[in-house]
Amino acid sequence: MGGPVQVSDVNVSHVCPELNRVYCADCVAFMSRLPKEFIDLIIADPPYNIGYTYDIYQDNRPDEEYLSWTEAWLNAAASLLKPTGALWVAIGDEYAAEVKWLATRKLGLHLRSWVVWYYTFGVLCGNKFSRSHTHLLYFVKDPKMCKFYADRIRVPSARRLVYNDRRTNPVGRTAENTWIFRPHVENESSLDLDGRLGFQENVWFLRPQDVPQGFRPLHDTWYFPRVAGTFKERAHLVPCQLPERLLGRIIVACSDPEDLVFDPFVGSGSTLVVAKKLGRRWFGCEISPNYANFAEQRIRLCKPGDPLEGPEDPLTSSPPTPMYFPGVCLSQEEREELEEKIVACFREAHQGYSLDRLLADPVLQAQFIDACSRHRLPGGPRDWNLTLLKLRKNKRLTVRTTSKGRISWDDLDDSILYAAEIALRKLLDQGYPSLDYVLADPIAALRFDEYARRIATGYESFYYRWAALMLRKKAKRLRRRCSMRNIDHREFRMLPLEADIKKNLPSAPGIFYLWQRLGKNDSPFSVYVGQARNLATTIAKLMETKERIAALCRRPGDLDIRYCSGLKSVEIGALQYYYASKDKPELNYLGVKDTEESG
Ligand SMILES: C[S@@+](CC[C@H](N)C(=O)[O-])C[C@H]1O[C@@H](n2cnc3c(N)ncnc32)[C@H](O)[C@@H]1O
Repeated sequence: MGGPVQVSDVNVSHVCPELNRVYCADCVAFMSRLPKEFIDLIIADPPYNIGYTYDIYQDNRPDEEYLSWTEAWLNAAASLLKPTGALWVAIGDEYAAEVKWLATRKLGLHLRSWVVWYYTFGVLCGNKFSRSHTHLLYFVKDPKMCKFYADRIRVPSARRLVYNDRRTNPVGRTAENTWIFRPHVENESSLDLDGRLGFQENVWFLRPQDVPQGFRPLHDTWYFPRVAGTFKERAHLVPCQLPERLLGRIIVACSDPEDLVFDPFVGSGSTLVVAKKLGRRWFGCEISPNYANFAEQRIRLCKPGDPLEGPEDPLTSSPPTPMYFPGVCLSQEEREELEEKIVACFREAHQGYSLDRLLADPVLQAQFIDACSRHRLPGGPRDWNLTLLKLRKNKRLTVRTTSKGRISWDDLDDSILYAAEIALRKLLDQGYPSLDYVLADPIAALRFDEYARRIATGYESFYYRWAALMLRKKAKRLRRRCSMRNIDHREFRMLPLEADIKKNLPSAPGIFYLWQRLGKNDSPFSVYVGQARNLATTIAKLMETKERIAALCRRPGDLDIRYCSGLKSVEIGALQYYYASKDKPELNYLGVKDTEESG
């Protein structure tokens, strides 16, 4: 590659141009000289005519002129698409309706989806709703022939972060023009005690991370942060660079490897970088020689198979919003009074059970929340639960509890235990400080259940949550008791062929170890070490959700299972702890610090 090609230097007239290049050209003229119907996917991110500063393009054209230019390039782009092809257009509010109208009514394209890209790190407006979305219009030539691979973009969901930044305005920020409401929780008043709707902004206007069922890849509202100045992928060239992960979702869903992807407005080259990384053929054009040159250099630096920049699931890259606790503005006296009321509600709801049980059991939890709501206590479920935990830690929760109906470690299936451990680790990695915090926050608890259920299906939420509490207790004990020096290193065996697992694996206690290998020649790294009271049945069950566990790993790749048998039951906990602490597998909770082991 030797820098962008000036379009005047080559004859591209109705012959396929040299691919895997950036052309420095006006896109309308360039496209009109290309053959018809030879491109699989066009991703167009034109200037939005809102006064952005580009190096040579003027982004404030008269309305009519911008619209007739839009029609010209849309028309040229449509004629390049194969019958199976797709055109995605990123556009702002100002012209989204016109683009849709032009493409469908005038050019005969078919609108398959109108995706809203919701982003954070947008520009704040003081006197109106701040800009927080861009439209991604997905057109196809023929709805019956187009390519669309929904399965490829089904990634594990979850979500995100505690920005405890004290520099932010305590009264909150201007609401954004994409609104997110927390799912309705019964018995919760939508007004705070002063009658202000949404005053507690983290309760009523949530971040995407806080919506357990929202922003999935197959929904038509996508969440990705904008490529802010501090991001590693930021090219610092054009003012509005599309995130690689967003482009990746489009390219993976709408094209196959080796398909041809074209970008008429290359800018810093993000689309073509992603197309190249994903093994597509690519080319594009850009009017600015400076940008075209930059894009060529940037594309040259990556190769097919390189990972995309940015977190795979943007919802899991940062933890959820911490609760705004109204108690902060209470006097000491008022706070104590509130604490007493919360304890009274606990007495009303707990039916003799412990606080752990109340946190883990959705029925008791609902009764407690119901009691607090009826008494119109300020705050929300997370505040009330955290208050109880704080009181217990300070030995001020003096409520008599019994151990009736106690569920012990031995009552829990191995699969619930590993599912709970992996789910808990995922939430801790997302920034939740502790298991207490996860169980105290109904949304985090739902998220925990969702992970656990994906790994070991078919159990009630209570059992996963209880297993996590038991595991924490066990970890604490093992930490105190286990001296690494007393543990012998064991040999692990490879698993027999899948069909023979039940037949050939011992129905005896043991340890199993999940490893991941990226390429044939790469050395494997540890993913999870677990214990089994019965290796044969536990591993057979694990095999059922092996792919789902693999999908929770940081990198894509198959899992390889090894096992070690011939152990006494009493040894297995210590051995699991030993390997978890020594190898630090990415999905184990054992060996990770939980800051609030108050149980
Ligand atoms: C919104 S930016 C594209 C940003 C790009 N998606 C990225 O992630 O870096 C629009 C680009 O279109 C270019 N452009 C404007 N008019 C053009 C035209 N007639 N032909 C080709 N490129 C043009 C601008 O120079 C600018 O780089």
